[in-house]
This record gives sequence, C-alpha cells and structure tokens, in this order.
Amino acid sequence: MSDEKLPAQPGRSGDGGQSVPPGTHPASETTAPEPGDALAGTGPFPDPGLPPHQPRLTDVDKRAAKRAERQVATLFGISILSTIAFIVCYFAIPEDLMVRIFPIGKVQLSNFALGTTLGLALFCIGAGAIHWARTLMPDEEIVEQRHYPLRSSEADRAAAIEAFNRGAEESGIGRRPLIRRTLVGALAAFPLSLVVPLWGLANRSRKPSVLAHTAWAKSKLIINENTHQPIRPADLTLNTLVFGYPEGVEDLNELAKASILLVRLQPEDIKDPREREWAYEGIVAFSKICTHVGCPVGLYEQTTHHLLCPCHQSTFDLADGAKVVFGPAGRPLPQLKLAVNEEGYLVAAQDFAEPVGPSYPERER
Ligand code: FES
Repeated sequence: MSDEKLPAQPGRSGDGGQSVPPGTHPASETTAPEPGDALAGTGPFPDPGLPPHQPRLTDVDKRAAKRAERQVATLFGISILSTIAFIVCYFAIPEDLMVRIFPIGKVQLSNFALGTTLGLALFCIGAGAIHWARTLMPDEEIVEQRHYPLRSSEADRAAAIEAFNRGAEESGIGRRPLIRRTLVGALAAFPLSLVVPLWGLANRSRKPSVLAHTAWAKSKLIINENTHQPIRPADLTLNTLVFGYPEGVEDLNELAKASILLVRLQPEDIKDPREREWAYEGIVAFSKICTHVGCPVGLYEQTTHHLLCPCHQSTFDLADGAKVVFGPAGRPLPQLKLAVNEEGYLVAAQDFAEPVGPSYPERER
C-alpha cells in the first residue's frame, strides 16, 4: 500500500484532512459505505438534515424559566435536607431497632433510614443537575462530524477548551444565584454523609464489642436446632454433633451469636481440665462461630474429635479445649459451661466467658 495522504473528507477530520498512517484507515482498505458517509453526502442515502429547532417553554416564557429555576433549587434543597436527615438518623436511631416495613418485611430501622436518606440526597443532586441542563442551560443543537485520527489538532483542542469555558459561562451559574447557592450547599453537605459514619466507626472501636456478651445466661434452656425441643443429656449419643440455641430468643443477630454445638465425648477422652469441669457427663458445648472470620463450623471427625471449619479449613480439637490444630483461626472456640435444671434438661451455667466470633483489634488475642 502506498504511503499517501488521504484527501480531506467532510465529516472525517476536524482539521480538514490530516496525514493518516497507511493501512490504518478502514476506508483505505474497503470501499463499503460507512456510518457518517450519509452525513458527509458521499453515501447512498441523502442527508436528512436536522428537524426544525423547537424552542423550549423556558426559552420563551420567563415565568416558566423562573419556575424551572425554583424546581432545580428545590431538588438541591431536598438533597441538603436529606444529608442532614442522614446525620440525625445516624445518631438518633438505635442500631438494634427492628421494624416491619411493607413490602420488605422486618428490617433494621437505622439501615433503612440511612440508605433512604443517602439515596435521596444523591438522587436529588443528579435530578437537579439534569433538570437544570434540560430546562435552563442553552439549547443549541450541534452536529459534530466524525474525524480521524482520534486525537484532535492543537487548534481543535484549544477551541474545545474555549467552548468548555464558554459553556460554563452560559450555564447561567453566575446569573442564577439561587441555583448556585443550593448546588454549592448540596455538594458541600453531601460529603458529611461519608465523614460522619467514618467518625462513628473510629469511635465505635472504643466501645465494648457487641460480641462480648450473648443471650446465654445462668439456667438458660438449650433448645435443639433441629427438633426445637429442650435437650436431655440422654438425648445425646456418643460423638454425634447437635446444634443448639437459647430458649426464648427471637432476634436473629442474638440467635446467630449464641449458636452452639454440643457433642458427647467419653469423659476420659477430654484432655483439657477446664473443658472437663465445664462439661456435663462428657457433654461439651462450644460456640458454633469460627474464630477466624466467623463462618459456622460443623464438620466433625468422630475418631479424632476434630472439628473443621468449611471456609478456610481451621481445625479445632474438641477433646482439648477446642484448640486450633490447623488453619488460620487465632484462638480456640469459646466453651459454654453446662448444667442440668430440675426437670433434667441441659441449660447454660453462665454466658460465654469470652467474646464469641472472630478476633478483632481490641481483643488481647
Ligand atoms: S472462617 Fe473458619 S477458617 Fe476461616
């Protein structure tokens, strides 16, 4: 292919025909019509041209323009109020308050309120900007011809910067102080909805962890997770894993935190003295939440008494205080001290002696 300059083609080059590397322009290899040829008048279809320009109502009616300006300002104003509402909700609504909202069902009110106010604040900034552009910014129809190569000439680039600056001028942000003020207010307020939760996060780490206590307490009845019935020691056969939860707890977070597994071991197989003391006739109970990052553990190997977490294979020895024998978990599963009530059912003797679940920075281990 010869090293040639393509002739300047209307609709192809913004600078009136630049040098094109040989073999890189599709038109240099094919004669098939391309999109844009019709506009340029070289294709098989006549250029349909643009329909006659229809001025918008806001272009011809000052009152309509004023009304649109107020609507834009109202949207930005709602965004400011939503951000303020977000901050108020963040501090005012207790984290554990659950409500039933149709048609979603039971939800954490703080999550719902924070999501709604944050979404509304963002939506109103976007909707206000679009409404402003559609009704008040200059309504010019401009045809930009396709050009090649993609990088524009220096003159085009300078013209683009000038057009951008002119656009900013013509957007009317200088002439419409109401819009300017509400937009600045909305954009200035919105970052607060990000800063406040971060500040809360930094503060929260100084509060006692929610994992420090569970729903277990002295004499709390243990309910079988499968049968939903209280458990008698005789119900547990040797080396069979049973999952349990505390009686009378409905909150799903509390239930998840308090979830336990029980297994009957031969008392003489239990190596750890404290585990033996906290067991009842060889029955031991441990938290079901892996101490790595919180998956439910549950794969039990009867012959070794090893309990495996399916997520990252941490392995705990149930016959030795649920110590970690393999994997990334940093500490044993917390043990629940067992007792039996007057009716002969298994109960907790107390809450866990240490926080359940994954380790976190404030823990000693
Ligand atoms: S969560 Fe159990 S090993 Fe990672």
